[in-house]
Amino acid sequence: MIGNELKIKIQKAELSDIDELTRLSRMLWDFEGRLDSHYSVSENFEIMFKGQLRRNLGRRDAAIFKAVHKGKIVGQISGEVQEKVPYRKLSKVGYMEYLFVAKPYRGKGVATCLVEELLRWFRKKGLRHAEVIAISRNMRANHFYRKLGFREIHRKYMLPLR
Ligand SMILES: CC(C)(COP(=O)(O)OP(=O)(O)OC[C@H]1O[C@@H](n2cnc3c(N)ncnc32)[C@H](O)[C@@H]1OP(=O)(O)O)[C@@H](O)C(=O)NCCC(=O)NCCS
Repeated sequence: MIGNELKIKIQKAELSDIDELTRLSRMLWDFEGRLDSHYSVSENFEIMFKGQLRRNLGRRDAAIFKAVHKGKIVGQISGEVQEKVPYRKLSKVGYMEYLFVAKPYRGKGVATCLVEELLRWFRKKGLRHAEVIAISRNMRANHFYRKLGFREIHRKYMLPLR
């Protein structure tokens, strides 16, 4: 149980969830695109993204979790085992992405539960570190990750070429 009154379940996503997950991801990218246009998605994103979701749902080294309230998906997170260059001491990390919670369900601990479930899954896979990228201007997400104990390790710069 999350919050005082909400009964939200965190479950592994299935193939039948693809449409809903795509809908939430679209909202995530519309939101991120407004923060920084580099994150906007193209019009044919749906077909490509659904294909990617389908593949990821079949992978043993990837997982998608959903937050469900009264049978409806209200949040999601995706993760995968990501290989780094083999000569690095840290050769594998748990990479998290597509974290999104529907607006009416925010501030109730849903994202915290989603992340914790994914971190448990990463640990079961033998991983010792998790990584996530947040847009600098996404104050809420940056605050959220720091609160969970993540610390900033690099900054990405972009230069438009003329
Ligand atoms: C960021 C997001 C996932 C947080 O989801 P959530 O379910 O509201 O998060 P939680 O309720 O688990 O919040 C945990 C902590 O995050 C921080 N947080 C959440 N909402 C916040 C807000 N509006 N302002 C500042 N901090 C906030 C707080 O530290 C909070 O802990 P507290 O309530 O004890 O203070 C959600 O706001 C969201 O979906 N945003 C749009 C998509 C997005 O930014 N995704 C991340 C991409 S990197």
